[in-house]
Amino acid sequence: MATNRTFTMLKPDSIEKGNIGAILEKINASGFRIVAMKMTQMTTADAEAFYAVHNERPFFGELVEYMTRGPIVAAILEKDNAVEDFRALIGATNPADAAEGTLRKLYAASMGENAVHGSDSDENAQIESNFHFSGREQF
Ligand code: RTP
Ligand code: MG
Repeated sequence: MATNRTFTMLKPDSIEKGNIGAILEKINASGFRIVAMKMTQMTTADAEAFYAVHNERPFFGELVEYMTRGPIVAAILEKDNAVEDFRALIGATNPADAAEGTLRKLYAASMGENAVHGSDSDENAQIESNFHFSGREQF
């Protein structure tokens, strides 16, 4: 059964371009409540662990480089059907394929620099939330 939480990161390109406010506004306007949020910077080891599922892929090195080059904003979001609805809001991995009005259509430059992360399952939403928020930060 779908849970009501997902996990997101506004990736380094979103922070570099000054898009934090605009993206959070869209997230709120789309009915998501921000349960927890922080700005942080991932280490190489963090990014390698977070995206471990992709570690055999040819783009893995670039992905780790990108995700560690500057700060990100990590957040836990709440809404009915959160995982699926947030994936719809962010749009396709490649912004060229993303639907009009989606976050990646609006704010992503390319497949490799695509502005926003969204968990792809309830299980991963929980794992990824725990990765970034632990101890007394856990909500
Ligand atoms: P995310 O996990 O960040 O929400 O993205 P996603 O599910 O839409 O895409 P995924 O397949 O999980 O890929 C993770 C991230 O790796 C980069 N990527 N680059 N150059 C490429 O072919 C390529 N493919 C994927 C993207 O930054 C993608 O978001
Ligand atoms: Mg993914």
